[in-house]
Formats: sequence, C-alpha cells, structure tokens
Amino acid sequence: MIELRDVAFAYEDAPAFTLAHLDLDVAAGTIMGIVGASGSGKTTLAKIIAGFIPSTEGGTYRGTASVAGAVLSEGTLTEAVDVVGLVTQNPFNQISGARFTVREELAFGLENRSVERSQMIERVDAVADTLGLTALLDRSPYALSGGQMQLVAIASMVVMAPPVLVLDEPTSQLDPAGTRLVYDVLARLSEGGTTVVIIEHKTELLHEHCDAISVLASGRIVSTGTPATVFADDRLSTWGVGQTRITQAAREARARGLLPVTALLPVGVSDGAAVFAENGAAR
Ligand SMILES: Nc1ncnc2c1ncn2[C@@H]1O[C@H](COP(=O)(O)OP(=O)(O)O)[C@@H](O)[C@H]1O
Ligand SMILES: [Mg+2]
Repeated sequence: MIELRDVAFAYEDAPAFTLAHLDLDVAAGTIMGIVGASGSGKTTLAKIIAGFIPSTEGGTYRGTASVAGAVLSEGTLTEAVDVVGLVTQNPFNQISGARFTVREELAFGLENRSVERSQMIERVDAVADTLGLTALLDRSPYALSGGQMQLVAIASMVVMAPPVLVLDEPTSQLDPAGTRLVYDVLARLSEGGTTVVIIEHKTELLHEHCDAISVLASGRIVSTGTPATVFADDRLSTWGVGQTRITQAAREARARGLLPVTALLPVGVSDGAAVFAENGAAR
C-alpha cells in the first residue's frame, strides 16, 4: 500500500540530507509504528508519505514514494489528499479556521468533496460518537482543550475515510483515556482495511497495537520488524528509543539466566526488583 524506494530529502539550504536511502513498505490494512529520537526525521517522513514533500516543500528530493498506486513524489498535493490523511503534531494548525463549530469543522473536508448532505451528517455523527466528541459538536473549535482539539483533528481526517492515515505523535496532548480512544479507533480502522502509519514515543502502545515497527535514526531506517523483534533489539537505546516493560523484563531475566525468556513476565516487585514467574509459577 505504501512503497518508498531509496527516498532522500534535504530541506532547502540545509547542510545535509534529513532523510537518505529510505525504503519502506507498509502492507494494506496494517498498522506500522515509527519510532526514533527527536530530530531523526520522523515528521519529515510523515510529510513524504502524505505527499506534502516534495509538493509543498522546496529542497532536494530523490527516489519514489507511492501510496495506493499513486506516485506521490511526482504528483500534486490534491492527488495525495485523496489517498492519505495526515494528522500533524500540532492540532491547532490543523483547524481550518473557516468554521464556527466542531460539527462544521468535521464536515469541512466532506463539503469540499461535495458529499451529499444526509451522508455528511451521518458520517460526522458516527465519527464524533466513536471519538467521544458528540457533546462538543456545537462548540467553537478554538474553545477546546489541547487534547480535545487533537481528537477533533483526528476526527476530521477519519471522517474522510482515506485508505491511508498517517498520524504524527497524535497522543502527545492526550490523557490516558484519550490515548486509549485513539488506539481503539485505529484498531477498528485497520480491521476495516485502512492502512495506518503512526509516529509515537509510547513504545508500550506500539507494541500492543502495531503489526510492524520501523526505527529511524539520523534519517535512515535502521530496523524494521515485528514489535517483539524490534523492541527487543539491544541497539534500541543507542537509537534513542525507550524499551517497553515487556522487553526490559525479558532482558533482565536473560541476564539472570532465567529461561525461556519468551515465557517470562514480571509477576510483581520485591525490594524494588521485578519478580518473575518461572514456568508459570511465582518464585
Ligand atoms: N522546515 C525545515 N527546514 C530545515 N530543516 C528542517 C525543517 N524541518 C525539519 N528540519 C530538520 O530535519 C531534521 C529532522 O526533523 P524532523 O523530521 O522534524 O524530526 P523528528 O520529527 O524525528 O523530530 C532535523 O534536523 C530538523 O532540524
Ligand atoms: Mg516530529
């Protein structure tokens, strides 16, 4: 569904390439998590997958990026927005500014596509319901908290039902309940065939929800695989990525000679150290 081949990009007047030799494959209907230290190029990658680079950003672009069969690296942004919805890091920038209520804001993209009114109302109501926004529909988008605005930004993309959804740290302003809501929605969209790329720092959540993980370090993809494989990689901390509790526990157990590692989960804490169950029995 998403195919990046040897993609490289340097921002205008930048001394070096932000991304280089980048290959990425995301299968249709799967959820791909992208992790990497701050400045590793995650947001730049999101803009490439969504077609904003190179169409709206000057600089040097090499390689090809195709999404749902459309070669975005050669096309216009109009073509890109039909296939990819991008939820950016700052929800405030994503509010259109042209609408007075959340309801109108959510309908904005559908209006632009001349979706029939009854269908528009139905879709807005359904997405608002799923994301817990029903009570906010008549409020001004600018009277919302950061978290609520983030959910509106996500809803305004979900309502368009693009085949591919790219989210750049969508839960950074959300509390745990809001975060859970977003991941529930993503899981449901993925079940319905939507392809999802999510940039996220919370590795636990990625471990739980993603089919595959790619690690970005200094503008290159240094590792790709299942969450279990990638998050167990010894090099993770050198790439500036935090480990999940599960892989930390497995590493600790391995260091203590407890086997099999895959069957070990901490069952509690004793004197500040994790206590492991061995063959299902607490020690
Ligand atoms: N508009 C821009 N112009 C020039 N350099 C940029 C621009 N945006 C990002 N960069 C640079 O590209 C690198 C990667 O940035 P970014 O993609 O935002 O990383 P991340 O999202 O992983 O923090 C950084 O070194 C950053 O300074
Ligand atoms: Mg970023």
